[in-house]
Amino acid sequence: MGHDVNGQIDFHRLGGVLRALALLASMSVTGQGIAAPPEMPWNMPAEHIGVATCAGSNCHGSARPFDDSPVLQNEYFTWQRKDAHSNAYKLLLTPESKRMAANLGIGKPEEATECLTCHSDYVPESKRGRRYSLSEGVGCEACHGGAEDYLGPHVTGNSHQENIADGLYPLVDPIDRARLCLNCHMGSTDKPIDHRMMGAGHPPLEFELDTFTNIQPPHFRVDADYKRRKPYAPPAKTWAIGQLIAAEQFLSGLRSDRMKAEGMFPELVFYDCNACHHPMRPPRWSEGAGGPLGPGKVRLADAYLVMSGHVIAALAPTLAASWQSALDALHFASQRSVGAIQSDAAALAGLVAQALDRLRDQSISDAQAIDLMRRIADSGVKGDAADFTAAKQMFYGLEALLAQVGASDKALAVRLNPPMDALFKTLDAQAQYDPSQMRAGLKQVQQILAQKAG
Ligand code: HEC
Ligand code: HEC
Ligand code: HEC
Ligand code: HEC
Repeated sequence: MGHDVNGQIDFHRLGGVLRALALLASMSVTGQGIAAPPEMPWNMPAEHIGVATCAGSNCHGSARPFDDSPVLQNEYFTWQRKDAHSNAYKLLLTPESKRMAANLGIGKPEEATECLTCHSDYVPESKRGRRYSLSEGVGCEACHGGAEDYLGPHVTGNSHQENIADGLYPLVDPIDRARLCLNCHMGSTDKPIDHRMMGAGHPPLEFELDTFTNIQPPHFRVDADYKRRKPYAPPAKTWAIGQLIAAEQFLSGLRSDRMKAEGMFPELVFYDCNACHHPMRPPRWSEGAGGPLGPGKVRLADAYLVMSGHVIAALAPTLAASWQSALDALHFASQRSVGAIQSDAAALAGLVAQALDRLRDQSISDAQAIDLMRRIADSGVKGDAADFTAAKQMFYGLEALLAQVGASDKALAVRLNPPMDALFKTLDAQAQYDPSQMRAGLKQVQQILAQKAG
């Protein structure tokens, strides 16, 4: 049985098995030092030449995987037939999108920058090649970078590093990958989304790097050959990096002009949706919910920050005390002014950068992964599971960590399966979300992990 909170693909246990196999020869990702982060694909100079250019039958458009090639070569069909990204533009033609665009007064959604920026490979006209088409949605080059300069050389058997030097975006590094995905899956200054759009009908955005990497229908195979060619990050590391980068992007959003909405309210997209949107009966606020502010406050959406706190406490413990006090300060600042929020967000962003520096070249042991699972369960039981979005992140985190730990401790994986199933069910529908059920499931996780220690 798989757990797919997004309700589409029954992936997770299968992914878990595949990842468990991959883990047998796991190695840690080697960092790139403190080099400047690469430009995002839409800001790189290269022309985007269109999916059709990549999809030749001798290239990435083979109907079946090649036997004698390190890469599958049927990436196009996987993307075209199974991957939601190939449908991203078509979503803009639906009645749902028309209604949303009408609510916003932005004309046709399929022609509006506000939507195309995330629902297509949106680059300026000057960078659109002959076979480029917006209607391809989130095509190969939206993630891999414009192919103008690497197209020729990369078919001659260049190394991955050489391709990157020619303009291929370095997706294999979890830090760079998370930064890219989150532009569209959280929103950013380049690709903004706000509460007005959500009010007009856009679904709220969420992301977890390990889970979303696994539910994207795989067009690459992480086998021994892949690991010879490329560095590979196991699930626990991918999860931890993903949380820190999500924290980085969230804090950078708080510090940007996007936060300064007009009028008396700051931009609400950065606040916890459930602080304002949830049924009022039965009352569900409980001690510990929502950080240090107490009942009745509009809180910032701190799910990624809380998770990053666990990562820091477990893996960069000398930063833990500063992190906790800076996070509390940010919560109090959120009740005062945008200026106060922005300066406290800067302090937290500095700590994220330090934590990333330490984590980059560190691998996460099974004992550390179990410690992280305990921390997640403990904080959920104490109150952090009150908010649906945070609860979902807890579940994703436990799954990713378990994918690593369960590979060597099958008995633990078997024992944790029933409470994980129960947690999954409580997260099935946001409208019916019951924090007390979530806490009950997390208590079982706590108990099983405690038995393991004893
Ligand atoms: C910041 C990037 C971003 C922007 C801007 C954006 N979207 Fe989306 N949109 C997404 C992502 C990511 C998803 C998929 C969410 C998921 O499944 O996790 C999505 C999902 C959707 C869906 C599917 C809804 C559903 O319930 O399945 C529709 C429809 C949609 N967007 C329309 C629009 C329209 C219309 C606009 C412009 C007004 C727009 N989007 C702007 C990123 C964006
Ligand atoms: C939503 C982002 C995204 C899109 C869209 C996308 N890819 Fe990928 N692709 C990835 C990620 C992530 C990886 C794994 C990282 C890596 O191996 O470098 C990857 C890996 C690959 C690999 C390397 C496989 C290997 O074994 O080294 C190839 C080849 C590839 N993609 C081709 C394509 C083609 C062709 C398309 C369009 C039809 C496409 N991708 C669309 C994200 C994407
Ligand atoms: C240019 C914007 C963009 C980028 C970059 C991007 N995505 Fe997406 N992604 C979208 C949109 C838009 C959708 C919704 C498409 C749909 O539902 O048809 C989506 C959907 C998805 C889904 C399906 C979600 C669901 O609810 O089933 C997954 C998984 C996903 N993306 C993973 C990733 C990963 C992993 C990366 C980074 C390697 C990434 N995406 C990069 C825009 C983007
Ligand atoms: C400070 C309180 C507050 C926060 C935080 C907040 N909202 Fe809202 N939201 C509102 C108000 C007020 C309205 C307008 C209600 C109305 O039109 O009846 C609204 C309207 C909406 C609507 C349209 C409702 C409808 O009936 O059509 C959606 C959808 C929505 N918000 C989603 C979100 C999401 C997603 C988040 C988190 C990213 C969020 N909101 C955060 C106060 C908030």
